[in-house]
Amino acid sequence: MLWVVCVFLCVCARSLAVPVAGPRISSRSKVLLVSFDGFRWDYDRDVDTPHLDAMARDGVKAPYVTPAFITVTSPTHFTILTGKYIENHGVIHNMWFNTTTSEKKPYYQTQFVNEWWDNGSVPIWITAQRQGLRAGSLHFPGTASTYQGESAEVSEVEPWFYNYSNETAWRENVDKVMGSWFREKDLDFVSMYFGEPDSTGHKYGPDSPERIEMVKQVDRTVGYLRNSAASNGLTDHLNIIITADHGMTTVYRNGLVKEITLSKIPGFSFRDLVFHLVDYGPTGMLLPKEGMLEKVYNALKGAHPHLHVYKKEDMPSRLHFANNARILPIILWSDPGYVINGYFPVQFNKGEHGFDNENLDMKPFFRAVGPAFHKNLVVEPFETVNIYPLMCHLLGITPEPNDGHLGATQAMLISSEPPEVSHERLCITVILPLLWGSL
Ligand SMILES: *[C@@H]1O[C@H](CO)[C@@H](O)[C@H](O)[C@H]1NC(C)=O
Ligand SMILES: *[C@@H]1O[C@H](CO)[C@@H](O)[C@H](O)[C@H]1NC(C)=O
Ligand SMILES: *[C@@H]1O[C@H](CO)[C@@H](O)[C@H](O)[C@H]1NC(C)=O
Ligand SMILES: *[C@@H]1O[C@H](CO)[C@@H](O)[C@H](O)[C@H]1NC(C)=O
Ligand SMILES: [Zn+2]
Repeated sequence: MLWVVCVFLCVCARSLAVPVAGPRISSRSKVLLVSFDGFRWDYDRDVDTPHLDAMARDGVKAPYVTPAFITVTSPTHFTILTGKYIENHGVIHNMWFNTTTSEKKPYYQTQFVNEWWDNGSVPIWITAQRQGLRAGSLHFPGTASTYQGESAEVSEVEPWFYNYSNETAWRENVDKVMGSWFREKDLDFVSMYFGEPDSTGHKYGPDSPERIEMVKQVDRTVGYLRNSAASNGLTDHLNIIITADHGMTTVYRNGLVKEITLSKIPGFSFRDLVFHLVDYGPTGMLLPKEGMLEKVYNALKGAHPHLHVYKKEDMPSRLHFANNARILPIILWSDPGYVINGYFPVQFNKGEHGFDNENLDMKPFFRAVGPAFHKNLVVEPFETVNIYPLMCHLLGITPEPNDGHLGATQAMLISSEPPEVSHERLCITVILPLLWGSL
């Protein structure tokens, strides 16, 4: 027994003595997850993006990734953080709602409804912290909430009426995450969120010159971020994943098309409903009154060639948007170009998302760079549920049950072994207590 103890102590001592780059940065493998909201997969095709191109040369690129349905911000970000489809994590909409009182809360206010987020799944911050790592989050959807009583150790939630487009503030946040959170505080995992190019895509449309300018701003920020990682001595430790929650597509209007307005559909009446969630882009959910489900369904089904109408139990299983008590009995979505209006058209965005995730315009971009990743490699597209198990692997932690697979992203990794540096932690958290127990 004694010689076993000796060997273990020697191995542990050796790994603890591994020289580190700075006085405070551990040699462990770190992960930064960055989301640029609404960055469609092909936004780099009509604009010069030298920093994104350099990142692809130095790392891995997927032509696109497939988000979860419905393709909206809070639900799809929570899929990235948990590895679960939306029906399995419960954050089914950007908006919190109560079908009894008809109360609704928009995106920002919903960030502070704890029960909406803490519905049985834990995001990667908690997975990591429970296994001895340290996590932070800046502005990422879900950051304000606690999960089974825990939250990200270091976090920053944006104030109300925050300006999500300010490049100076973006740079300050990058410096904070790199210099303070990763280098000084020595965090292992950080998620970071930018609200563009989503806002610009909504307001001006994905084909606008304004969107092109915003993609240049994103590209400059990617360059700034990688520079900041290098100047903080993080390059050899830090794996950076940059992706988004969904894409964007142009909405048709000005009499070009027959718009979808539910009140104009013969046989349909809002009086047959207890509650509805429409006027919110291309998806909708309806709760009919007792005994009215068939009437509402029959009135809407086939009423417009670009409106899809499903009873919850008949939802295509590939969409993974049915098996949750929060999803209402009738689900609607429109084809790209169309949004769903209730009484009359009240939506004026030139760009929208939320559509079927099979539609190419809904697919975000994906880039990764760092010591764990191959260089100059383009991998096959994959679903964003697979990002969570990838990040857990990079951190050397055991994932919670999830809908993703490490196999979907393994081709981008240099080694399929968990990162060697996790050895040090194994000594402290597993082997040493075992030895003490046996002595
Ligand atoms: C909705 O509101 C009703 C009435 O105030 C309340 O009883 C119920 O618990 C609420 N449901 C949710 C999910 O908040
Ligand atoms: C999830 O939320 C629903 C109400 O929206 C609630 O009935 C259910 O108990 C919650 N589940 C967990 C595990 O928190
Ligand atoms: C946000 O900040 C930028 C400056 O970086 C400015 O150009 C823009 O007008 C601001 N937006 C709003 C809505 O204030
Ligand atoms: C942009 O952010 C910087 C740094 O936080 C701030 O000083 C400036 O006032 C902001 N500008 C606008 C237009 O919000
Ligand atoms: Zn979004």
